[in-house]
Amino acid sequence: MVIQQNYSLKPHHTFHFNVQADFFVAPESKEEVIEILKAPVCKSNPLLILGGGSNILFKSDYKGLILKPNIQNITVVDEQENNLWVEVGAGVDWDYFVEWSVKNNLYGIENLSLIPGNVGACPVQNIGAYGVEVKDVIKQVNGVYIDTLESFSFKNEECDFAYRNSIFKNHLKGKVIITSVVFELKKQAELKLGYGDVLEKINELGEQNLVNTRKAIVHIRESKLPDPEVIGNVGSFFKNPVVENSIAHKIIEQHNNVPHYKIGDTLCKIPAGWMIEQCGWKGRSLGNAAVHEKQALVLVNKTGKANGEEVLRLASEIEKSVKSKFGITIEKEVNVI
Ligand code: EPU
Repeated sequence: MVIQQNYSLKPHHTFHFNVQADFFVAPESKEEVIEILKAPVCKSNPLLILGGGSNILFKSDYKGLILKPNIQNITVVDEQENNLWVEVGAGVDWDYFVEWSVKNNLYGIENLSLIPGNVGACPVQNIGAYGVEVKDVIKQVNGVYIDTLESFSFKNEECDFAYRNSIFKNHLKGKVIITSVVFELKKQAELKLGYGDVLEKINELGEQNLVNTRKAIVHIRESKLPDPEVIGNVGSFFKNPVVENSIAHKIIEQHNNVPHYKIGDTLCKIPAGWMIEQCGWKGRSLGNAAVHEKQALVLVNKTGKANGEEVLRLASEIEKSVKSKFGITIEKEVNVI
């Protein structure tokens, strides 16, 4: 395990800004994670845990130590007639694991195909797409406390999962390192095809099965979302706001065809991407940063030369527009460092 100094973070975050960290280390096992936590460099510097860097915005160079768990195993830990439990190292690329599950005929995460990032980060913001959230398949989250070096193992119910949220973003923020996640996958067909254009795309491809579901989701995502290796971005930059029905009704009265989703009896989710588009931002640039032309929820490093301040300036203009047109405050989904 090598501790790198003045290390470029450009390949380690999907906005690909030209920023660097004072120190960078990528431990390959839980034992190496503990070893680095005991090292003087860790005690005398601020510490940041990095996953795939697909949900982070660096405002400037990082003055401290970046620890990127690079634990790479996929291990079947238990199996019953209908289910299989698999423990996956924090450093495994999320989509590699989805591909592995589909190749092994296991159901549960196919709708989460092509989401960028690493397995260790997936519980933190409870990644979700096309009617599935990762909390639906997480059995257990394992890791170590940064202060005491004690191991933990949280069951699903202990993780306080909610829409793009969990205990790891709140109570335990900055206090733990996730080293592996245990998933419960199904051996029997259990497809969730109710969301948007998924079913339509699968029917175009042929049979409604696991392989075609993954293909359909990959196709839909590729057609709407920019590939971060080609044009820097972090997927959704904002969360979809959840508002009181009374506020949603006012908007629905004033605008035709507002997409909205009821949440219980009193609340309603309105897509931020729709509101940003209505404000005229879709496809517009501000300096080197821009709003993606096919999905207004995604901000991009359009020229490859943007920095964090520039993207934040664009985000702030968008927040002001949405507030003034709809009276709604939209929150960032991305973590600003
Ligand atoms: N819409 C517009 N204009 C836009 C974007 C969206 O009018 O520019 C409308 C769409 O027509 C649709 C509605 O808004 O009626 C919802 O759009 P979409 O299905 O594209 O999903 P989203 O709500 O914008 C969420 C997730 C995405 C996930 C998709 C699909 C959040 C913050 N984002 O986006 O997640 O892929 O649903 O399930 O919840 C991510 O987190 O990085 C991400 C991409």
